[in-house]
Amino acid sequence: MMESASLPSTPPLIACENLVAGYTRDIDILRDVSVRAWSGSISCVVGPNGTGKSTLLKALFGFLKPSAGRVLLRDVDITGNPPFRMLGLGLAYLPQRPSLFPHLSVESNLKLGLWHARPKKTVLTEKLEHVYERFPVVREKRAQPAGQLSGGQQRQVEIARSLMADPSVYLIDEPTAGVDPQTSETIYDIVRDLARELGKAVLLVDQDIRAALAITDYVYVVKNGTVFSEGARADFGADTDALVARWLYASGE
Ligand SMILES: Nc1ncnc2c1ncn2[C@@H]1O[C@H](COP(=O)(O)OP(=O)(O)O)[C@@H](O)[C@H]1O
Ligand SMILES: [Mg+2]
Repeated sequence: MMESASLPSTPPLIACENLVAGYTRDIDILRDVSVRAWSGSISCVVGPNGTGKSTLLKALFGFLKPSAGRVLLRDVDITGNPPFRMLGLGLAYLPQRPSLFPHLSVESNLKLGLWHARPKKTVLTEKLEHVYERFPVVREKRAQPAGQLSGGQQRQVEIARSLMADPSVYLIDEPTAGVDPQTSETIYDIVRDLARELGKAVLLVDQDIRAALAITDYVYVVKNGTVFSEGARADFGADTDALVARWLYASGE
């Protein structure tokens, strides 16, 4: 799809260019992927199961070392930094699978969101208060073992934990997988506010195309390890069904 008036005119905060990555030396899962995300907006990567969406986020965050291509943050090459460095650079990664320590209290989990920064106690207390103000449910449950919370509540704790470090970029993998529809709505509202209210650049990977597109500004359709269609959300038109059909057709399902 061509450049459009609805695209941000500013440079992207985070981008990857022609990324190639995989889990073994001989098989590339990502064969040539270029995506971008802008401060204050949401870019969404959709595509069939097993196409490499989670792999893309892992490669961006440094869990996988790309064999070619670049990851750029504010136009600075950060390719291949390990995850703890990516955290320090202002990236947050919310994996598809639950990532809390289930036996630790909610508050202990939140504190771990800042472990890499070795904060002073006063700073830690201040940050905790900040996220508790934003997430009343998290405050309410702060003394409970995280594993006792519902799936949706645990998602909120994960987002609250990431906010402790005040990142500028969010890499989010299927935030509502296995969550009931009503809770999903809450989670998507939170993701939307990360961009709209807090100005984060969000790169969202999702299978729930309809729900994700409702909050997305820019769409990438990934297939067979590469981007085969992209455009501003507005350019795909109001007819989400057409996009879904096109995606299904193109994926050969
Ligand atoms: N840890 C891993 N080791 C080896 N292969 C993997 C691993 N994780 C995923 N894969 C493979 O990489 C491909 C893409 O997976 P993934 O990125 O999880 O897809 P998606 O998130 O789009 O469903 C799949 O073929 C999958 O089997
Ligand atoms: Mg996945």
